[in-house]
Amino acid sequence: MHAVLDSVASPDLSPRLRAFLADRAPATPCLLIDLAVVRTNYHAMRAALPEAAIFYAVKANPAPEVVRALAAEGSAFDVASTGEIDLCLAQGAAPESLSYGNPIKKAADIAYAHARGVRRFTFDAEGDLENLAEHAPGSRVWCRFLVDAPQSGTPFGKKFGCAPAMARRLLIRAHELGLAVDGACFHVGSQHTDPAAWVAGIAEAGAIARDLATVGVPTRSLNLGGGFPASYRDQQAPPLTAHAEAIRAAVAEHFDQAPELVVEPGRAIVATAGMIRSEVVLVSRKSDDDEYRWVYLDIGRYSGLAETENEYIAYRLRTAHPATPDGPVVIAGPTCDGDDVIYQNTPYRLPMALRAGDHVDILDAGAYTASYSSVSFNGFPPLPTVFVG
Ligand SMILES: Cc1ncc(COP(=O)(O)O)c(C=O)c1O
Repeated sequence: MHAVLDSVASPDLSPRLRAFLADRAPATPCLLIDLAVVRTNYHAMRAALPEAAIFYAVKANPAPEVVRALAAEGSAFDVASTGEIDLCLAQGAAPESLSYGNPIKKAADIAYAHARGVRRFTFDAEGDLENLAEHAPGSRVWCRFLVDAPQSGTPFGKKFGCAPAMARRLLIRAHELGLAVDGACFHVGSQHTDPAAWVAGIAEAGAIARDLATVGVPTRSLNLGGGFPASYRDQQAPPLTAHAEAIRAAVAEHFDQAPELVVEPGRAIVATAGMIRSEVVLVSRKSDDDEYRWVYLDIGRYSGLAETENEYIAYRLRTAHPATPDGPVVIAGPTCDGDDVIYQNTPYRLPMALRAGDHVDILDAGAYTASYSSVSFNGFPPLPTVFVG
């Protein structure tokens, strides 16, 4: 069993968040983002891997305030749609700092991106490559290949990337089509706490670069994707420097000439900057002698906690009650949907004193929360965000 309790005055909360909560008592549920922590995380990534260009993955938290703060710090952006392109441009990002990293896109979206000045794209299929040659002529391209990185906290499966042999063929084709071949890219899946997770992908990318050089197609850069972790209740993220060292050593071993490095962190930039304040709607038991209490919160799977699907991410929870006595709980969301159960297999314990109306704070919740809660399913509105710092 995990002890998951302490008070809201936890040292985990930045003083700014603590002061804001005390002064303003925001309506729940809401996500609070400390922009100063976003900036600190960005600079920690820069310090750990100074040789890499950082393209913040906007999907992790697309709040205009976050994008604006990062643009002001000099970040570039990994965008997944025309909507994210418009968002970044509106927040002061230069078009040349955007990379269209989603390999699934319409020809019209490519043309739109190109018209807005975007000149970097990722593809993983022939059809998309042909569209890029036609609608974004001369642009810089990466081909994403599939990597086997099974330890990801939230794995991608096989949706993105092609076999490395196909990546070689398509990059040669990209060269023939007049595109500027940047090289290969891969993504190990999100939330990777093992710094060695990137090594196999780097080795493969190095082999691709060597093979392309032998047929007169020079490559320029290596895009290592995202996947850099945050610490959650059951997962401790190693320091970013451990990831950087593993990456640096693998690049030195597998590339004849050092490529320009690109990283696309999302979670590592915003997760620890955010905290969700929620409220208990109901505490109940399914029978009079049931050991488990069901704790229903005013936030659930469809209003911000999408990453609790399969119980992949176990957030740290805090209440204002003393940690003991406590007891086991199932934690669920407020909707009329049977899948809106947040944790029933992951053991959680909450104070016996917990009542309807009490707050439950969900820590390290700045990534992939508000951005997933974009539909008012069951009439529960999307998760609002409040900014401090
Ligand atoms: C192409 C691409 N780059 C970067 C990211 C960010 O990943 P993470 O938040 O794990 O750093 C994602 C996440 O889905 C992605 O699809």
